[in-house]
Amino acid sequence: MHSVPSLAILGGPALRNRPFLRWPVFAEADRAALLKTFESGEWGGYGAAVQQFEAEFAKAHDSRHGITTANGTLSLEAALIACGIGPEDEVIVPPISFVATATAVLRVGAIPVFADIDLRTYNLDPSNAAAAITPRTKAIIPVHFAGHPADMDALMPLAARHGLAVIEDCAHAHGASWKSRKVGSFGNFGSFSFQQSKNMTAGEGGILITSDSRLAELGWSYGNQGRSPHGAWYQHDRLGTNLRLTSLQSALLSVQLRRLPTQLAQRAKNAARLRAGLGAGSILCAPEFDPRVTGHGLHLFVMRLNAQRYPELSRDRVVEALIAEGITGASCYPYPLYRNNLFQNHGHRLLPCPNAEQMARQCLWLTNDVLLGSAEDVDDVLSAIAKVTEFAEELLAANTERSQ
Ligand SMILES: Cc1ncc(COP(=O)(O)O)c(C=O)c1O
Repeated sequence: MHSVPSLAILGGPALRNRPFLRWPVFAEADRAALLKTFESGEWGGYGAAVQQFEAEFAKAHDSRHGITTANGTLSLEAALIACGIGPEDEVIVPPISFVATATAVLRVGAIPVFADIDLRTYNLDPSNAAAAITPRTKAIIPVHFAGHPADMDALMPLAARHGLAVIEDCAHAHGASWKSRKVGSFGNFGSFSFQQSKNMTAGEGGILITSDSRLAELGWSYGNQGRSPHGAWYQHDRLGTNLRLTSLQSALLSVQLRRLPTQLAQRAKNAARLRAGLGAGSILCAPEFDPRVTGHGLHLFVMRLNAQRYPELSRDRVVEALIAEGITGASCYPYPLYRNNLFQNHGHRLLPCPNAEQMARQCLWLTNDVLLGSAEDVDDVLSAIAKVTEFAEELLAANTERSQ
């Protein structure tokens, strides 16, 4: 006779039936800012709201210039173009990221070179980046994955020694800092995204920051049809395109920038509660934070399967089990970037990436809905993880049945 299942995925009762916080968070200030810009009639055309947001965002990230773009994919492309990267050049990227980090390189005609990550931080490992350098290498794009800054102490001198540009992909790392300096301000450019899921959002959008006036001019010019900042409107000095953000988006983002410090504090509080609650016997291990990280962006809270204790368990099955328990935002990347079909048809170079393979097999993460939620929300997540841990054998047995 079969006993009554405990786990929701096997037909038992779900631990939680209430929805989590819905992202994006907004309030009266967002509505008022949007309405004010709406009524001004200046919705686009590189208006005052855009320029104000660019200045505020750059200042908040220890940089002199901000150049808004339509999204964080195009901001990476604009940065590469401004740095003079093009056909035949190689650009080193980590394989644990969103696809845009590598496709931006392809879009400018250059070749992405995948180098392995550090398993403690899931960021590009500087020694693997060093091993990937050839005479064709022109740039490195470190990604501050999940909001954890990459090792800029090692990457910046490496790039300097080889004359490489550094474009920081900060799509997960608004407001994050490495040794008290904001990410995005180390490299030639920092590139951010304001896509719907990001820690600041206008639905879509992006920005480049830099303190190099010449690069700022080139980046701005590319996204503004090759105009020059002080040239006439119908004067086009180089080949460009239109990457402009609208005033409506900028107005919304200015309000969100003011909210960012409070939200980062809330993320840090919830991450600390999660870390404290994930004990040694848990099915999932808490992430490690490098002590040089003085501000974690906490876009994602990444947990790794305790494979030593539960070698048979599959990460995908754990994600499904947590979702069934009501932890609806649990998610993961299915595989490292280079396994996407698109790279079969486009030039790329691949160094051995055992850490990226392991990460993509064993990790899952929590997002805004938990990181900005209440202590009770966090406790529900911990209870769900504890429940899956307690009944891991049940999950494994069902796995075996499924595969027979
Ligand atoms: C690491 C990373 N880089 C780049 C991007 C591209 O940003 P966007 O979606 O705004 O084009 C994203 C997000 O989607 C991302 O997660």
